[in-house]
Amino acid sequence: EEIKIFAPATVANLSCGFDVLGCCLDNVGDEMIVSKNDLNEVRITKVTGQDLPLETKENVAGVAAIALLKHQNSQQGFDIEIHKKIKPGSGIGSSAASSAGAVYAINKLLGEPYSANELIAFAMEGEVLASGNAHADNVAPALLGGFSLVRSYDPLEVISLPVPSELRLVILHPRIEIKTRDSRSIIKQEVSLKKAIHQWGNLGAFVSSLYTDNYELLGRSLKDEIVEPVRSILIPYFSEMDSLARSNGALGFGISGSGPSVYAMCRGNENAEKVKEAFQNFYEKKDIGFELHLSGIN
Ligand code: HSE
Repeated sequence: EEIKIFAPATVANLSCGFDVLGCCLDNVGDEMIVSKNDLNEVRITKVTGQDLPLETKENVAGVAAIALLKHQNSQQGFDIEIHKKIKPGSGIGSSAASSAGAVYAINKLLGEPYSANELIAFAMEGEVLASGNAHADNVAPALLGGFSLVRSYDPLEVISLPVPSELRLVILHPRIEIKTRDSRSIIKQEVSLKKAIHQWGNLGAFVSSLYTDNYELLGRSLKDEIVEPVRSILIPYFSEMDSLARSNGALGFGISGSGPSVYAMCRGNENAEKVKEAFQNFYEKKDIGFELHLSGIN
């Protein structure tokens, strides 16, 4: 018995929701093939597309799988094949896709003892291995789809939010690698009250905009005065890309997850195509390689 799944890329933070907000892309992701074995162990049998560890305990998919099986008290073994399309260190949830994909597939093969929401905690174990921190803002949307909000980490409480139908994301990935672990280490641990006020105002307004299909409010809310000003230093042409996105009509712009990818949130395909083209024209003249994605949120 084997199962083949699409393990989606995700955009975490979305500027106003550091570590608590994320969304799931509908056309960018890895493929995974998971099957039961008779060996009482989890094996990573194949990885294509990227050079990642095959040692189960060093692979995020293996670690997430073991967390689930341990909780289930199950001796069942599984073979996991990962066909990577998402580059590690790109900022669109590469490790989350593998962790979430592994627990999603295993849960299916076990007859679904867990709900999608319950799988988040297991997938987070993979994130600990990848980044040293158990954040859920990539694994939650990868498992639940759409937008996810982490109301609380302890106890874990994740809420699914509605997706306005015309939203599109343009993601630009400049080909440099930024490890989440490193880009977390440069963030300040204290926040001023003034910045906190701006941030929770924006996050609340963003959530409201999703329920009311208010695209203008959504765009105004995509701001971050706390983490982006520090992290953007690591990202090539950040402010130029920001201006370019906005002058071409994007609703908002920011860092995708921990970077180096950046996202432009757009209303409708036509606008997204325009922003994508502007990014492409800009980057083609630079000597950094890049990849561009245009995706819906689902
Ligand atoms: N919220 C996490 C961070 C996401 O920004 O570090 C990592 O992809």
